Amino acid sequence: MDRTAWDERYASKDYLWTVEPNRFVQQHVAQLTPGTAIDLATGEGRNAVWLAGRDGR
Ligand SMILES: C[S@@+](CC[C@H](N)C(=O)[O-])C[C@H]1O[C@@H](n2cnc3c(N)ncnc32)[C@H](O)[C@@H]1O
Repeated sequence: MDRTAWDERYASKDYLWTVEPNRFVQQHVAQLTPGTAIDLATGEGRNAVWLAGRDGR
């Protein structure tokens, strides 16, 4: 898919995915100590929001 196709896809609904983080992200990150993270290709940001909520500061 090119960027136009992604933009069109995300423009079609409020949420394309659930608002819950991806289960594989949750599974693999849950065991890590909260710190600094970058979420590439974040889509609607569900994983980034979850990661930010784990801030250990
Ligand atoms: C299947 S969605 C996954 C979104 C998010 N990671 C999630 O789990 O909800 C793929 C994402 O990758 C982005 N993407 C696709 N190709 C990309 C590229 N070449 N550079 C940066 N982002 C890209 C899309 O814009 C989209 O946000």
